[in-house]
Amino acid sequence: MNNLEDMQRSCLVADFTPEQQGSELTLMGWCHRQRDIGNLVFITLRDRSGELQLVIDDQSPPEALAAARQVRSEYVLACRGILRKRQDVNPDMPTGEWELHITELRILSKAKTPPFYIEENVDTGEALRLEHRYLDLRRPDLQRKIIKRHQITKWTRDFFEQEGFFEIETPMLIKSTPEGARDYLVPSRVFPGEFFALPQSPQLYKQLLMLSGFDRYMQIAKCFRDEDLRADRQPEFTQIDLEMSFVKATEVMDLVEHFLAYLWEKSEDYQVKLPIPRLTYTQALKKYGLDNPDTRFGMELKDISDLASETDFRVFTGAIESGGSVQLIVVPQGSKMTRREIDSLTDYVKEYRAKGLAWIALENEPRGSFLKFVESEWIERVKQRVEAETGDLLLFVADQTDVVYDALGHLREEVAQRLDLIDQSLWNFVWITEFPMFEYDEEAERYVAVHHPFTSPMDEDLDLLKTDPGQCRAKAYDIVLNGNEIGGGSIRIHDQELQSEIFSLLGFSKEESEDRFGFLLEAFEYGVPPHGGLAFGLDRLVMLLTQSDSIRDVIAFPKVQNSSCLMSKAPSKVSQDQLKELNINIITKDK
Ligand code: AMO
Ligand code: AMP
Repeated sequence: MNNLEDMQRSCLVADFTPEQQGSELTLMGWCHRQRDIGNLVFITLRDRSGELQLVIDDQSPPEALAAARQVRSEYVLACRGILRKRQDVNPDMPTGEWELHITELRILSKAKTPPFYIEENVDTGEALRLEHRYLDLRRPDLQRKIIKRHQITKWTRDFFEQEGFFEIETPMLIKSTPEGARDYLVPSRVFPGEFFALPQSPQLYKQLLMLSGFDRYMQIAKCFRDEDLRADRQPEFTQIDLEMSFVKATEVMDLVEHFLAYLWEKSEDYQVKLPIPRLTYTQALKKYGLDNPDTRFGMELKDISDLASETDFRVFTGAIESGGSVQLIVVPQGSKMTRREIDSLTDYVKEYRAKGLAWIALENEPRGSFLKFVESEWIERVKQRVEAETGDLLLFVADQTDVVYDALGHLREEVAQRLDLIDQSLWNFVWITEFPMFEYDEEAERYVAVHHPFTSPMDEDLDLLKTDPGQCRAKAYDIVLNGNEIGGGSIRIHDQELQSEIFSLLGFSKEESEDRFGFLLEAFEYGVPPHGGLAFGLDRLVMLLTQSDSIRDVIAFPKVQNSSCLMSKAPSKVSQDQLKELNINIITKDK
């Protein structure tokens, strides 16, 4: 018999209580391991709650013993038995004091030998695991992460419910909303040659909901962006999306801080110290080189351009003459780094467009890559300026300042990781504020929005829109945790004229704005409350709260680097009939 008509599960495998000693339990789950010692068979039964040892011996019915001897790893079993204390306690197993002495055993489903062990921390390659993701998901560590994700989502809904937010769904098939990434498009069958876009975020809809008077909106929202993937990016990901009416930036930030405190208290039993520190965008770049800085350690950037300009080192003087700067980081006790290690750091900064990495190891007799161009007295002055000590290593980059920031900012984090300088027990939140409104896109020869085109300029910078848009700051804020951008938002424009002006600054003609955002501009004619909001990357939050290295670990069915799914093999070709119905002709590009 391989059905359950006459059986009902008592509890999950590891969810029994000590009081049940001596009573009969009916349990179901997977065989984790089977050991056959002749007239004695041990089976470790596993489900999402844990494991329990089953014992089948000559006091069990002969059919049960016969069945037990056939059982292999990952067979699905149902059994009845008496819960009893084990003679040889297994201290490595949470249920290691207990076993179930089997009176009935049924094989519900057989299994092929799995392509990898279902174990905590397997070292099987990720590709093979993703191909069989349903097996990978049987592993206890992934189960814990996915269940934690459920809890985080639940706590999130609880918090926003208490704060008077409504969860409102917004459409998946929309008109494209510009958030900076490429859209995923969905062809329309009814309108040949026309397309829906999948939302990069619910941005416009949540703004319209404010206009409709819902006052406080939130949504656990799926978002889609066709962009290059990294460990913290997926083509489809989830946001905790929120929007509030009649608020200023500090009110949104205040609420978000209380949400984070609530979540960390629930999840980690950890008290986040409020208010969360704030850095302006400019301060963040000056100190850390990045707008998503990891503030768990020092090694801040130091600008020594004035001292560098006194040297004969062309790398330094050249960078300064062409309007750039020379900056450095001090690696504490870094002078013991080998030449090879420093060379690999040089290769590392080149990934961030730096042309090289100059260095001085502050030993009694300093070593370095450009000592023939500087006096020892100069080194001494640098040492004093940046408060370095003998034994430290100075790493310099000379270039245009944005390149210096990017290269040293990333180098700082790389070095801290390699030298294990980060206190892993810290949760360092920081707000980054006063972002620039626009970035100049050299290729497109126009400004693009740093956050998105609906972000309001700062009141004191409104005049700059006409005179120097590049200097105009936005009412935008990002929330960063241990070097990860976990959320971002802004106060929005609620004035139709200003919105039209921003569209035209971004290079949209009147017709284009009308065509793309006409419905928004029209809506703006009917009474708009000032509003603002923010969206968290839920996957990134869960990644950090589960100590995972990648957001793939906290998404049940993630995609890989090239945005495909290794398990289902999506994307895939479709039939000619389907294409015809959609009026689509495939043009194959010559490779
Ligand atoms: P933004 O584009 O900054 O803002 O996105 C908000 C947060 O979403 C996360 N995130 C991602 N996570 C995984 N994979 C991705 N590809 C990905 N892209 C973004 C980040 C980010 O901070 N509509 C605005 C929000 C607003 O203004 O209210 C928006 O989408 O953690
Ligand atoms: P070179 O004169 O090219 O041999 O370089 C001398 C040292 O300066 C080497 O350590 C290079 O890695 C480094 N270097 C070259 N260009 C830069 C730069 N733009 N910023 C910092 N160091 C550099």
